[in-house]
Amino acid sequence: MAMEKSLVFVMCMLVAAIVAAPMAEAQLGNIIGNLLSLVNIQGIVYCTANGRIGVNGTSTPVFPNALVQLQCGNGNVVSSTTTNGSGLFSILMDPLKLILSTLLQDCKLVVATPLSNCNAGLPSDGSLISPLKLLGNIVSGLLNITNIGPSGFNFFSS
Ligand SMILES: *[C@@H]1O[C@H](CO)[C@@H](O)[C@H](O)[C@H]1NC(C)=O
Ligand SMILES: *[C@@H]1O[C@H](CO)[C@@H](O)[C@H](O)[C@H]1NC(C)=O
Ligand SMILES: *[C@@H]1O[C@H](CO)[C@@H](O)[C@H](O)[C@H]1NC(C)=O
Repeated sequence: MAMEKSLVFVMCMLVAAIVAAPMAEAQLGNIIGNLLSLVNIQGIVYCTANGRIGVNGTSTPVFPNALVQLQCGNGNVVSSTTTNGSGLFSILMDPLKLILSTLLQDCKLVVATPLSNCNAGLPSDGSLISPLKLLGNIVSGLLNITNIGPSGFNFFSS
């Protein structure tokens, strides 16, 4: 899982930093005292007219290899990733780069790959767009992960 790999990587870097750096005890205490914050934006894109799960539930076809962009403000692409074979995408962000409230208010998820890529019967232009919603926090080891997901995709013709 991409997210787990990234988290393991972050953990390793943290451990490496703690082991390698000849830090003053005060500094070390400061790092351990404050959890490392991460924002994880993740969700599943389905291969349906509105990108959402259909009436058939988990048997709804997913949208693999779709380019998912995190766009903020006036369509500024802040980050992007691709859905995997299960239609799942995950974007890890350093919350220092973007305040949580700004992220939730000014940013959106845009599926830039046309729906026709997963089903020739679906539109070949336009895009799926969803605002973001806060799902909650998980504290795991030294990490404080804020989970954010799409509040619901809709199709917008271009
Ligand atoms: C997609 O990613 C999820 C989460 O990492 C994983 O559980 C799933 O097996 C992946 N799907 C494929 C087809 O790789
Ligand atoms: C749901 O599943 C049934 C039975 O497999 C199928 O006939 C129908 O087309 C499916 N509906 C959608 C929206 O995919
Ligand atoms: C984790 O981060 C969230 C969001 O920044 C914050 O509200 C919460 O207090 C943090 N939790 C801990 C245990 O530090």
